[in-house]
Amino acid sequence: MVEAKPAVEREQWSGQLGFLLAAIGSAIGLGNIWRFPGVAYENGGGAFLIPYLVALLTAGIPILLLDYSLGHRYRGSAPAVFRRLGRRFEALGWFQVAIAFIIATYYAVVLVWALRYVGFSVTEAWGDDPGTFFAEEFLQYAGPTVTADVVGGIFWTLLGLWVVTLWVMARGVRKGIERVNKLMLPLLIVLFAILVVRALFLPGAIDGLNAFFTPNWAALADPGVWIAAYSQIFFSLSIAFGIMLTYASYLRRRSNLVPVSYVAAFANSSFEILAGIGVFATLGFMAAQQGIEIGEIEGLTGVSLSFVTFPQIISLMPGGPIFGVLFFLSLTFAGFTSLVSILEVITAAFQEKFNLTRLQAVLCIGGLCALISLGLYSTTSSLAMLDTADNYANNVGIVASAITMCLVVAYGVRKLPELQAHLNAISTAHVGTWWRVLVGVVVPIALIVMLVTTLTDLVTHPYEDYPWAFVNGVGWGVIGGAVVAAFVFAAIRWRQPVDEFIPDRLVGNTARPPSTGGVR
Ligand code: ALA
Repeated sequence: MVEAKPAVEREQWSGQLGFLLAAIGSAIGLGNIWRFPGVAYENGGGAFLIPYLVALLTAGIPILLLDYSLGHRYRGSAPAVFRRLGRRFEALGWFQVAIAFIIATYYAVVLVWALRYVGFSVTEAWGDDPGTFFAEEFLQYAGPTVTADVVGGIFWTLLGLWVVTLWVMARGVRKGIERVNKLMLPLLIVLFAILVVRALFLPGAIDGLNAFFTPNWAALADPGVWIAAYSQIFFSLSIAFGIMLTYASYLRRRSNLVPVSYVAAFANSSFEILAGIGVFATLGFMAAQQGIEIGEIEGLTGVSLSFVTFPQIISLMPGGPIFGVLFFLSLTFAGFTSLVSILEVITAAFQEKFNLTRLQAVLCIGGLCALISLGLYSTTSSLAMLDTADNYANNVGIVASAITMCLVVAYGVRKLPELQAHLNAISTAHVGTWWRVLVGVVVPIALIVMLVTTLTDLVTHPYEDYPWAFVNGVGWGVIGGAVVAAFVFAAIRWRQPVDEFIPDRLVGNTARPPSTGGVR
């Protein structure tokens, strides 16, 4: 039988800088701006920075290095990489693809909200009651139920966003994803810096910063605070669901992976802490204007923080519309570069497994993702659905994926020494035994404890007090669907050779010529 040849050659970043920008662009996303400040405040304020930094150093950076080393050494999408580690592990790659697919469907919708709020900021369209405007006028929110009533304003903007996103994806790694990051990431940093400086000069800003940084040490005894820190790091660094693995697979063979991963991780966390400073300085202004304490402000987290509390502040502020435009544009740029990275996990996997061109993969699987996103999340039930899907995908899906990945690599195929040697052979900074101990022992133990606690909580209390039928249908539907999809896709035959791949020799980066067999 004649083996199928790859439909196209494997793509590459233009260089290490292009990769670094894309990696930082993926990491800095909605999670940094709308999630971190509230999570930090709710979980001990200044004291949260301790579990946060512990999570970054003990799990974030080690798993980032694991993702990078797997993608770079085995040069493929998540299913191809895990297949090359062992046939029976391919399903883990597909599970990561499925989680990325689920996240992409709702992540795009939050971007649409941000985009629409850029326009709303100009006229302060939310009027005197941003909460009612957001829930009733804008989302036409029907509560935690499943409806098929489409909200026109969201549907059409979402459709437009998907067309643009799929166009960027179809242009490829260098001309599409890399260019978007090279444009949007510097813009984001400039816009956000202006925003934070402006916020720091608002009356009351200092009280906001005091509220953010005043530690509640007792919170450190609460396991929930540690869980929040680890979840935040995983989502925020884009690790353990295929993104960094796929991105690293497009790097040239000679790439200085270890320092690059430190730069990406610290850039992401610095931005996150900057976002916390900007947001709390602004909240301090609001509290001062209303003569209340920060703790009395309602809606300090997630959706409410960005789409209800911030509009209130914009209305109170001199020059509010400009502040609003900058804030929601920052959210849009940050989210867009993350959305393309999430979609690349899916595109690369389908392209390789089914031997498709990029355009075919983008149209088929990207198109399906867009249809599901439009069908589920432009309806009047979108808010509760995406909140539930997000909670289960992150706190169950990504955590389970990270645990399995560590256990497979450390004990299933015993590849940690090889991956450590790979990282050290190509990088100017080296990783020591500490990395193997963290990935093989510390991270799995910490994450298993975390997952058990989360699952216990999820089966005893309905998430956000939504009705059980809704939570079980959406939340467990998401996880169950991802598991089923993982095994179904792993069972399908590859349309091009995948197993013949031979990794590079390790001594001194004497890279072999690319192997002829296997996925590009
Ligand atoms: N890392 C991306 C974010 O923080 C997914 O939103």
